[in-house]
Amino acid sequence: MKILFKNIKELIQVRDEELTFISGSEMNVLPTIKNAFLLIEDSLILDFGPMDSLAEVSVDKEIDLTGKMILPCWCDSHTHIVYVGNREGEFADRIKGLTYQEIAESGGGILNSAKKLQAATEDEIYNQSKHRLEEVMQLGTGAVEIKSGYGLTVDAELKMLRVIKKLKENYPIEVKASFLGAHAIPSEFKENKEGYLSLLIDEIMPIIQEENLADYVDVFCEKGYFTVADTERILVAGKKYGLVPKIHVNQFNSIGGVEVGVKNQALSVDHLEVMEEEDFEILKGTSTMPVALPGCSHFLSIPYTPARKMIDAGLPIALATDYNPGSSPSGNMNFVVSEACVKMKMTPEEAINAATINGAYAMGLESKLGSITKGKIANLIITKEIASYAFIPYSFGAPQIDKVIIRGKEIV
Ligand code: NIG
Ligand code: FE
Repeated sequence: MKILFKNIKELIQVRDEELTFISGSEMNVLPTIKNAFLLIEDSLILDFGPMDSLAEVSVDKEIDLTGKMILPCWCDSHTHIVYVGNREGEFADRIKGLTYQEIAESGGGILNSAKKLQAATEDEIYNQSKHRLEEVMQLGTGAVEIKSGYGLTVDAELKMLRVIKKLKENYPIEVKASFLGAHAIPSEFKENKEGYLSLLIDEIMPIIQEENLADYVDVFCEKGYFTVADTERILVAGKKYGLVPKIHVNQFNSIGGVEVGVKNQALSVDHLEVMEEEDFEILKGTSTMPVALPGCSHFLSIPYTPARKMIDAGLPIALATDYNPGSSPSGNMNFVVSEACVKMKMTPEEAINAATINGAYAMGLESKLGSITKGKIANLIITKEIASYAFIPYSFGAPQIDKVIIRGKEIV
């Protein structure tokens, strides 16, 4: 099935060359073609260019996009969308003055979500989570990473990972899975963290490898959660089981997590709300992608990742939602792109690069997704009629999406 999109007002993020990721001043360059055509065949991008270079071609369907733009779907490299119930009670408690940390210390937070998930069946978890996956697809996301980490027992962690696997099998969106058993220390291991670490490493990791349940290993490296030494132990073990590191660091404190991530060839280090000078130096020239999660900063009223300073220092940045019930109950990448511009002083070009090609890199998908490139998967956002692409972050809270195409098919 060949589909030709013609008279596209502007085709955004067109790249001919093989790209891994974009850093520093290059992030401000967003290649586009005005008055363009785009030809897709089945699930792939076949050709594109200016309308006046369009040769005679026989197609199954022609779609006129006068006034509308096309950009690649968002690549959301950090989510926790598999969970049960919600935590709006904690939200109300925070409004009244409790902090996220105080709520966690009194048994709320991650442990609260774990209790709910442990009590639910695989089908219940799947049915609650699939709505969130469908929701983010409607919002223009075409690839998503999903973490475990609300199970915190052998059975419940595996249950979560099997739900992620099932979502991956049943939906056209690209899904990557991360094993985040080291998300919090369960109360039964409060005095025996050692025991919990060996449960993660010796009992769960072998099954994950056997059943091919995850791509990445994640750790919440933070005061009161997992130390740098714990993190290193988990990452080293994860690598032995074929899991690539991709970790939560520097959300509230910079305790050396960036360094341990880079040292263990982490694909990404995520959060980075608190960045020390040495963290900048450690990241420079490495293959580790720094990932900012402005939805979390917004919702918890904590500092935003210093993206402006990081890009000016030559670093790359990817943007993701962190969609989860505690710190960021929204999977709207359009809002994330907008927040990146408004609160982190990223330009629309930088934010769109960060949410497409750099997000794809942070999921190991840069050869398949993240740009309009021949041979890549046809995951496309067709915008409403808009004056310029800067209108996308400008009109915060109102996605400028007319249609979403995933693997060449419209999402309805
Ligand atoms: O990325 N910080 C660690 N984990 C999640 C939040 C988890 C929760 O509160 O349920 C995050 O923000
Ligand atoms: Fe997270």
